[in-house]
Amino acid sequence: MIHLNNIHKTFSTGKPNEVIAINNVNLEIKAGEFVVIVGSNGSGKTTLLNLVAGNILPDAGTITIDSNPVTRLPEHKRSKWIARIFQNPLLGTAGDLSIIDNFRLAALRTQNKGLTIGKNDQFKAVVRNKITTLGMGLEDKIEQPIGTLSGGQRQALTLLMSVMDTCKILLLDEPTAALDPRSAENVLRIANNLIKEYNLTAILVTHNLKDAGNYGSRIIQMGEGAVLKDVAGAEKQNLKQNELYDWFG
Ligand SMILES: Nc1ncnc2c1ncn2[C@@H]1O[C@H](COP(=O)(O)OP(=O)(O)OP(=O)(O)O)[C@@H](O)[C@H]1O
Ligand SMILES: [Mg+2]
Repeated sequence: MIHLNNIHKTFSTGKPNEVIAINNVNLEIKAGEFVVIVGSNGSGKTTLLNLVAGNILPDAGTITIDSNPVTRLPEHKRSKWIARIFQNPLLGTAGDLSIIDNFRLAALRTQNKGLTIGKNDQFKAVVRNKITTLGMGLEDKIEQPIGTLSGGQRQALTLLMSVMDTCKILLLDEPTAALDPRSAENVLRIANNLIKEYNLTAILVTHNLKDAGNYGSRIIQMGEGAVLKDVAGAEKQNLKQNELYDWFG
């Protein structure tokens, strides 16, 4: 599904502050895999997601998504495959617009899996049903500006909105870092359910090693722009919390 071949990315090339953000990374992520990425600050995690999303381009190497060569393809031409959730809950939705209008916008942007805009009432009913499944009571607030919601509520809705699109790949860059522990737990549980329901290929970047242990079918540790560890299957499921901590020496 996602194929990174000998990918290199250097910032500020030739300057005193030159940094090799991604150093010859080879990575193959299969359809339906849920990959968790851990690693110290500055190890290249966000840069890796940026390279997949296409908002930065590699200096060398090739990238394939769903068998399509996309190495030089700009971000907006990949967005049909990719949904992205950021650390900041304010990104990804329009705060002044109501919940329902945000869903309408999202549905208009691409052809939609679960939604046809169709008649207004019909659209509302579908969205309300979907929102009910979040179990947060937000279905009664769909006419309210989304900016009036809490970060956790907003992050849950952003997730729902993005996966109801045509996307096949979900990129989550510390999506719960700005949330309180309970909301963080709730949002991750929702993300995990949606990944399963829509059979998405997902990458979750997190500094929370408990989450890194609990979620995903594969875990990768990055360090200095390289893949240091790559563990999947039963080995990933059996990984103990303290073993994960030991990765960070
Ligand atoms: N646009 C940029 N211009 C210059 N340097 C950059 C740029 N983006 C990233 N870097 C540098 O590349 C390295 C990797 O950064 P990146 O954001 O990928 O790290 P990260 O693993 O996501 O860290 P964190 O855990 O703090 O989010 C860092 O040294 C960073 O300063
Ligand atoms: Mg980062």
